[in-house]
Amino acid sequence: MLLVMLGPPGSGKGTQASRLAEKLDLHHLSTGDMLRSAVKNETELGKKAKEYMEKGDLVPDSLILDMIRETIKNDQGSGFIFDGFPRTIPQAEGLDKMLQSEGEELDGALNLDVSDQEVIKRLSGRYFCPQCQRTYNYPSNLPEQEGFCDECGVELQKRKDDTEEVVKNRLEVYKKQTQPLIDYYKDKSILVNVDGERDIGVIFNDLVTITQSL
Ligand code: AP5
Ligand code: MG
Repeated sequence: MLLVMLGPPGSGKGTQASRLAEKLDLHHLSTGDMLRSAVKNETELGKKAKEYMEKGDLVPDSLILDMIRETIKNDQGSGFIFDGFPRTIPQAEGLDKMLQSEGEELDGALNLDVSDQEVIKRLSGRYFCPQCQRTYNYPSNLPEQEGFCDECGVELQKRKDDTEEVVKNRLEVYKKQTQPLIDYYKDKSILVNVDGERDIGVIFNDLVTITQSL
């Protein structure tokens, strides 16, 4: 199965994609996580991406498409759930071409609908585990031991791009460059809209039901 998880920053793409990947035995492919790891490891890609990410701008399409191509080639697994990718029409077209050349196509694009106000609230309370990338939230999604990851026991951190100013830009960038993908996938009849302002578990159950009918 091949799925795309769409939605504004902070809509819960990562939270839901990691759970769905486990449930459906898919690879969770988050371009944001891959880029943050490249920045941390100071790779060539990381050096190029850092400046864009710190401002909340998008990393150029060609870099992203190369990174995806490298990751999905020769994969014999049961499929992917793409989180935070594609982010622009050229990225969506690039993905379609890559899949077509393997005789594959996307099964669904799951769009988490969340308001700007909720995005701002969630991102100001977000913490993540630098080891396993799992996210938490104060107060909506607390770890068992305050300040530490349930899985790894590692101290939780704030993301550098979760400051008020950068979140404002990320929302603007989303509206200009990523929101048009909703119509792109609607035209291909694979878009599914999901109300993302409910309890994490309720949304997850909905997503599982939706994927069973794709
Ligand atoms: P990326 O890491 O993809 O960031 P994003 O799209 O802004 O999304 P987030 O990861 O911030 O949010 P999310 O939707 O995953 O929400 P989460 O589950 O964490 O990208 C970062 C940067 O990398 C970009 O700005 C860009 O520079 C670059 N980049 C990445 N991909 C790129 C691409 N394809 N092209 C170009 N550039 C790219 O949840 C958020 C918080 O809310 C958490 O605290 C969580 O616990 C909580 N939460 C989740 N669900 C709920 C709920 N239902 N109720 C209450 N709280 C909830
Ligand atoms: Mg994410």
